Amino acid sequence: MNSRKKIFSTVTLMMLTLILFVISFEACGDREEFGIGPVKDELKLEPVNDNMVARGRELFNVKCVACHKFDVKLVGPPLKDVTKRRRPEWIMNQILNPQEMTQKDPVSKELFAQYLIQMTFQDVNQLDARAILEFFRAVDENKVTP
Ligand code: HEC
Repeated sequence: MNSRKKIFSTVTLMMLTLILFVISFEACGDREEFGIGPVKDELKLEPVNDNMVARGRELFNVKCVACHKFDVKLVGPPLKDVTKRRRPEWIMNQILNPQEMTQKDPVSKELFAQYLIQMTFQDVNQLDARAILEFFRAVDENKVTP
């Protein structure tokens, strides 16, 4: 009886370990697509919010236009359809943590290799970055023109 119990608890423990391993592995997989930075949780996106778009546009025109256009390459990549090729969390982390992104994130690293200029942190907080993302979403959904 005792040894049966032992086997039972060993098997249970092994299964629990396996489950935990699978869960943590999946979590890591997700995070990789998010890039590297303060945004670690999946964003729940709702229909585009007009107030946020307006705020995002203002910020973009002050902090980003020196290096980015939407349709053509400037100092950095053209940003049209960026919300279609990258995850929203990744975009926010690129804005909030560009230096570490170009050093460690495979996609950002490749962009850096191509553009040969380091995108600078533009002193935006998480809410600002979220508003800029909203502006990009509105542009990509053809709700506004940049
Ligand atoms: C000094 C120029 C510069 C400024 C200012 C700048 N960027 Fe960038 N950006 C770049 C470069 C260059 C890259 C490519 C990665 C690299 O080399 O750092 C890039 C990459 C990006 C990408 C990824 C594009 C893609 O195709 O995946 C996004 C998104 C982005 N920038 C958004 C912004 C936003 C938003 C701002 C303003 C808050 C901003 N950038 C300010 C130069 C800049």
